[in-house]
Amino acid sequence: MAIVIDSSAKRLTLHTANTSYQMMVGEYGYLFHLYYGDSIGDGDCSYLLYKQERSLCSSPFCAGEDRAFTLDTAPQEYSAGGAGDTRLPCIIAEFPNGGRALDLHYFSHELLAEKPALKGLPSLQQGEKTCQTLEITLKDSDSEVYVILQYTVFEEDDCIARSCRVENRTGAPLRLEAALSACLEREAEEDLDLISFWGRHTMERNVERRRVSHGKIVVDSARGTSSAQQSPFVILCDHHATEDAGRCWGLNFVYSGNFAASAERSQLGSVRVTMGINPETFSWKLEDGESFQAPEVILSYSGCGLSRLSSNYHRILRENMCRGAFKDCRRPVLINNWEATYFDFNTDKLVRIAETASKLGVELLVMDDGWFGKRDSDWSGLGDWTVNEKKLPGGMQALCSKINALGMKLGVWFEPEMVSEDSDLFRQHPEWVLRIEGRGYSRNRYQLVLDMSRQDVREHLYQQISKVLSSANIEYVKWDMNRPLSEVWSQLLPADRQGEVSHRYTLGVYELMDRLTTDFPHILFEGCSSGGNRYDAGLLYYMPQIWCSDNTDAIERLEIQYGTSFGFPMSALGAHVSACPNHQTGRTTPLFTRGVVAMAGTFGYELDLNTLTEEEKEQVKEQIAAYKKHYDTINKGEYYRLTDPTRNRELCAWEFVSRDKKKALLFAVGTHVRANVAMPVIRMKGLDAGKQYRLTCQADHPLTKKDVGAKDGVYSGAVLMNAGIRTPMLKGDWPAFCVELEEVENA
Ligand code: DGJ
Repeated sequence: MAIVIDSSAKRLTLHTANTSYQMMVGEYGYLFHLYYGDSIGDGDCSYLLYKQERSLCSSPFCAGEDRAFTLDTAPQEYSAGGAGDTRLPCIIAEFPNGGRALDLHYFSHELLAEKPALKGLPSLQQGEKTCQTLEITLKDSDSEVYVILQYTVFEEDDCIARSCRVENRTGAPLRLEAALSACLEREAEEDLDLISFWGRHTMERNVERRRVSHGKIVVDSARGTSSAQQSPFVILCDHHATEDAGRCWGLNFVYSGNFAASAERSQLGSVRVTMGINPETFSWKLEDGESFQAPEVILSYSGCGLSRLSSNYHRILRENMCRGAFKDCRRPVLINNWEATYFDFNTDKLVRIAETASKLGVELLVMDDGWFGKRDSDWSGLGDWTVNEKKLPGGMQALCSKINALGMKLGVWFEPEMVSEDSDLFRQHPEWVLRIEGRGYSRNRYQLVLDMSRQDVREHLYQQISKVLSSANIEYVKWDMNRPLSEVWSQLLPADRQGEVSHRYTLGVYELMDRLTTDFPHILFEGCSSGGNRYDAGLLYYMPQIWCSDNTDAIERLEIQYGTSFGFPMSALGAHVSACPNHQTGRTTPLFTRGVVAMAGTFGYELDLNTLTEEEKEQVKEQIAAYKKHYDTINKGEYYRLTDPTRNRELCAWEFVSRDKKKALLFAVGTHVRANVAMPVIRMKGLDAGKQYRLTCQADHPLTKKDVGAKDGVYSGAVLMNAGIRTPMLKGDWPAFCVELEEVENA
């Protein structure tokens, strides 16, 4: 049983294949968190609760003269602000008299034999899996405010989907100043780190690991998107946890707007981590009879290091978050014209790019920014989604026929949420943008943000976009979003509801995404936001792949993709081979290396292949053939980080193993080639120790001595995992190699 309820002991336990999560209704009816970690079977952790009188810690009113009982030090399942627990609150509610205190007690619980959907929000889907859900209702001691905690257990995946709903039955409005989704409590003596993923445009998701010391750590976004600056995914882990050892708890937020993940070590040393919508940009007026649904957090635990934790997330996001026709099928190898032409293109140029690409095996041409309105630079045109016939004579249909005639699909770029100041749409509807009446507004790339909380705006966008999508055989859409939100204020909402706009914006974006992806199910949608500025589990519900970064430099990508891999599957990670010298860094890397790096994701090209030599074109052909051959291993297999590129400055290596362990791929890039050094040994992971594998090594650099290292031949999984593979003797700038392993039966 995934969920076990011991009514007499008032203990509620959630079990996954390898983990247990336990809570109990304790003294005075409070819901306490007891345990989350490796499986404890039918174990009872209630003995861990204790009470002791502590100075400067208050006791709740219901505890009367029991001075030893305080919420200020107790491990709470969902902490409420204002009534004695002064640590991180999950919920802050203001009553009409201005009072801000909630005192939440267990009220009831219910078991559901399925996973309910969260209205208007992305969330894990049960699919073919069997799921149980526990809903625990908490009630405020002095009012009719109810908080329903929801837990769905994905047993085989070692994941728990957690969220909460607040119901106001007080007869008067209630103002929510915070309504977070999840809380995690840890014991006092533990030496824990928080791993988070910070970044900036063109350098997203850098790994940052710090000790959780006294006070608070806040990782958040107030930019309107989940952001390049901080990712809505954090890991709490043992200070000594590594890829293969130690306890790790992950919190992956299924939300694409402002978020906050906070960790606090309290006065007694216990640690609390919370995650949810960022309270800094949130305030929600909940009328009597209304409820507020907080987004979902996917919790996962691994008792054997970070690698397993990532694998849990890769699997569940791939299988239960991504939906639609493209969830499981092989996605096309694409070529995008952005770095090839920027705004300077027309039908002929695109067709020339596509002609060569199709001959080499590319399957989809993506026409990026610049095909519509008055859009010859980023100064104008956004919002006017009509084809610029000067660039594309005969419109979308004419271009599409030409591309289809080459045996290729056509994809189109949109930036639905934006409008240029110089656009017909802005001239007609200046009131449709986010701005505060009577104030100037901030500019970014000379574009403004449409008020996606407005139904009329969403309807207009739906009509415009669906018209284009229906006008020709368009089979892919890149959904871009290129600026942060500012002056967040909506003309349609009263003053006391302006704090809702950020969240309503995100809900509006979700609604439009849902409508378009539902009505055009044959179209593959790819998310993008100046690269990876909205890279989160929520977006994957609508779009199974996301452009990872505008930085296409293969060497920089090593770190970006490494960081991204902690919380997100490689099948979602958009990665392209681009031109050299690279447009972002000016660095020149071998084509082979660029291919190796881009193959760790949804593979494509971002250059004009006509500029390559015949020899290079042959190489492109080989890359595409190799990617197609290994598609399942890369996109559905297990992924292992073999080195940490931020520490190992000489070699970056990673590995894919097919689900049946019959095939594996090791990819590595030499990031600093040195003279007269020993060639390192890399130990493979995740193979079947008892299987025999045929090893073939491919390296491209003419000076690299392949036979020094991984000699082609047959090796056992046990040897490859324990003794390892010696790397070839790498030479030159940014060399790479790839080792392919295939099971040899009856060897
Ligand atoms: C930002 C995206 O990340 C790029 O790939 C490209 O589509 C540009 N926007 C176009 O404006």
